[in-house]
Amino acid sequence: MPAATHEALHTAGVTVVLELGAGVPRIVHWGARLPDGVDLAALGTGVSSALPQSGYDQRTDLTLLPQHASGEFAHPGLLGHRSGLDWAPVFTTTAVDRTDGHLAWHGADERAGLAVSIAVDLHPGSGVLTLEGSVTNTGAEPYLVDRLSPTLPLPAQATEVMTLSGRWTREFQANRHPLHVGAVVRENRFGHTSSESSPTIFAGEPGFTEAGGEVWAAHLAWSGNHALRAELCADGRGYLQAAELLLPGELVLAPGETYAAPAIHAAYSPRGLTPLSGAFHTFVRSLPGQPKTPRKVLLNTWEAVYMEHDPAALMALADRAAEVGVERYVLDDGWFRGRDDDHAALGDWYVDEGKYPEGLGVLVDHVTGLGLEFGLWVEPEMVNPDSDLYREHPDWILGIDGYTPILSRHQLVLDLGRDEVYAYLLERLDALLTEFAIGYVKWDMNRHLAAAGHHGHPGVHLQTLRLYALLDELGRRHPDVEIESCASGGARADLGILRRTQRIWVSDCNDALERQQIQRGFSYVFPPEVMGAHIGPTQSHTTDRVHTLAFRAATAFFGHLGLEWNLSTATEEDRAGIAAVIALHKGVRDLLHTGTIVRGDHPDPSAYVHGVVAAGGGEAVFAYVQLRSSATTVPLQVRLPGLDPARAYRVERMQLPGDGPQPGKLAPNWWDDGIVIGGATLSTVGLAFAVHHPESATLLHLTAV
Ligand code: GLA
Repeated sequence: MPAATHEALHTAGVTVVLELGAGVPRIVHWGARLPDGVDLAALGTGVSSALPQSGYDQRTDLTLLPQHASGEFAHPGLLGHRSGLDWAPVFTTTAVDRTDGHLAWHGADERAGLAVSIAVDLHPGSGVLTLEGSVTNTGAEPYLVDRLSPTLPLPAQATEVMTLSGRWTREFQANRHPLHVGAVVRENRFGHTSSESSPTIFAGEPGFTEAGGEVWAAHLAWSGNHALRAELCADGRGYLQAAELLLPGELVLAPGETYAAPAIHAAYSPRGLTPLSGAFHTFVRSLPGQPKTPRKVLLNTWEAVYMEHDPAALMALADRAAEVGVERYVLDDGWFRGRDDDHAALGDWYVDEGKYPEGLGVLVDHVTGLGLEFGLWVEPEMVNPDSDLYREHPDWILGIDGYTPILSRHQLVLDLGRDEVYAYLLERLDALLTEFAIGYVKWDMNRHLAAAGHHGHPGVHLQTLRLYALLDELGRRHPDVEIESCASGGARADLGILRRTQRIWVSDCNDALERQQIQRGFSYVFPPEVMGAHIGPTQSHTTDRVHTLAFRAATAFFGHLGLEWNLSTATEEDRAGIAAVIALHKGVRDLLHTGTIVRGDHPDPSAYVHGVVAAGGGEAVFAYVQLRSSATTVPLQVRLPGLDPARAYRVERMQLPGDGPQPGKLAPNWWDDGIVIGGATLSTVGLAFAVHHPESATLLHLTAV
């Protein structure tokens, strides 16, 4: 057997060391940057484990694709079989390809008729590690794949796991789980990414915070079903897996066919969650489809008019939007034939002649004539039984013959795996984008997939690929159109969809208090500029809470800013306030959307501190957010992390609508006139703050002097 060799991949902050030999490679180190020239052979020898007591007579080190037949205790990296045979393959190396920062290992088990490949990339800018696995059936009979999970090792220090769960209007809620011997498993069978389970799993030192503790995370770039797993095995080894969850019999490879598993993007931070997010954000910013131009402030018509579309009122709304500085106008649900409420019309992607007797072009022209871009809402994957499309093609839906499919929001799911369905949607969407001057599409998806049969077989995998193909084809035909990924809010937020969309609608909840927490969870992986964040009406339509414009504005301020409010009925004072907020946002959005986010470890649980620091540290914007009333009579001193310790900063409050001078005794001395103070002082000592009412916030602008 040839001796193992070791190879290191480095970025500024991360090192990955691979051990390559006769069989599946293993990662012997994924974590802190090791010095150049580190003795890799010694490292490899040093971490080779002893033989376990009362165990196999050979070492069973964790590999990139754990094998049951090799005695590895981990969940097998490849699970599958050929009618009950070839279920425990042992792969030997057939080739290794290398280019700068990229390594692809290829292996085969000829007896089992299988070949596998795992590509390993360490992205130079972000330090994100990408693993992409594939399996090819080289045998003569079909091979059924149950799961393909490239696997990442977790060091023994990582004994606390974090996952993100939620529901409609309450997405991205963090959960912590201690990792004892056993596994933390999150499985998503909703057929799309879902609000219930976000496809990232984090593990770190116990109690890891924003700025403390080593943390590792794996994200699955996939918009279908997923299975996340963090396990500490009885043999003492820990690992992370993030894989597509395949339904029974969903993926059968004919001889010669290959299954490419979705990419895993993994990040490491030596000091807490904030730098880990920074790595993911840098990675997202490097994706080719992300716009380099400023994110246009938009108005979305949903909470303004719902489905009551009156062209004159919509044009007046556009006028009001233009006056306050909006740059994009998005016509939401309700514009297509027969769409008066959510019981009917999905699938009939033709302009409603009743609502738009002179056509949609009149509104589009009016909007673009004001200098605004026009955007349109669609929900292409769906059909209402009460629609012409369904009446004509009742067989076009996902389902299983002989069973009645369950409705959700009165709708069924089209089977994109059928060529005729795919062709219909491509034709309709292409026609709309060609006929009208549309610069933006809000692509919605408002239900789970239950018993999603494609000709009776499980169809989620194919559905997801076809969705991607449709988006990719539209992107080729209309390269300048930006797309927002929405699924009843944030139920389709993942790095698979973000390869072909430019914005994610985070939540249907525009309640600023709920949004603070939702957006915090969202920001663990996604950068502010893809975070759709809207200022909604004074009273939230999903919670009935009433918030000041200042609090709503401070909450939406950091993301891709939008309005979702009927400006035609808003007061003049509110409209002036909104215009001021939009102007303020435009003044700093380049910083907000390219800088490094920081989330503070503020010791008072009733408040959040977060901000964005410009690359180079010359400027920053911070928010102090009082979520509830504080237990203390004056706020705890606020540290502003992430600044250049060697520079001094001018700290000034940003004027939000309604922000008046604070009654003197309730505000610290610097509050009204600002202060010049050192970056190190701000990060390590902090500032006294004014007393805040619950559900209020202050924005600070910092400029290096
Ligand atoms: C979903 C979306 C909303 C809105 C409505 C329209 O709920 O998340 O933003 O577009 O559909 O029906």
